[in-house]
Amino acid sequence: MQPAHVCFFLLLILNALAMSSVKAQDYPPDLVRGEGVYARLCRSCHGDKGYGDGPAAGSLTIVPADFHRVRSFLKSDEELLRTIEHGVVFSPMHAWRGQLTDEEMQDVLAYVRLLSQQGR
Ligand code: HEC
Repeated sequence: MQPAHVCFFLLLILNALAMSSVKAQDYPPDLVRGEGVYARLCRSCHGDKGYGDGPAAGSLTIVPADFHRVRSFLKSDEELLRTIEHGVVFSPMHAWRGQLTDEEMQDVLAYVRLLSQQGR
């Protein structure tokens, strides 16, 4: 392949990546605000570090998601955002639409992603 062709392909790939992230993230998330939302509304179930071991977790039949597990880790931002927005049926994870703005949901998602990349 000609070097120029390689460049062209790289540009195509980069462009595709940029386009796909725009949908989930229309603006850069505010991690500090995300952390605040998490501490206020999510930590009691999902735990300090996102292992699903918050103080409220023990009393729940359906245990809160551990964001480090492979199943969650591999999900797209879109999918997790949808869960935050609409909740999980028949589980204590209710919908946050109405309580959180779009921006807050994206911020808290970014914080969840950060937690999922960190250890204990
Ligand atoms: C009352 C406890 C509780 C609270 C509070 C709570 N969650 Fe959950 N969450 C759950 C449960 C239970 C599940 C579903 C269990 C599962 O997916 O294995 C869940 C699932 C999720 C998932 C989906 C994970 C996946 O892999 O699909 C995300 C993302 C999530 N919660 C984010 C949040 C955020 C963000 C907040 C705060 C705004 C929050 N949760 C507050 C209990 C809670």
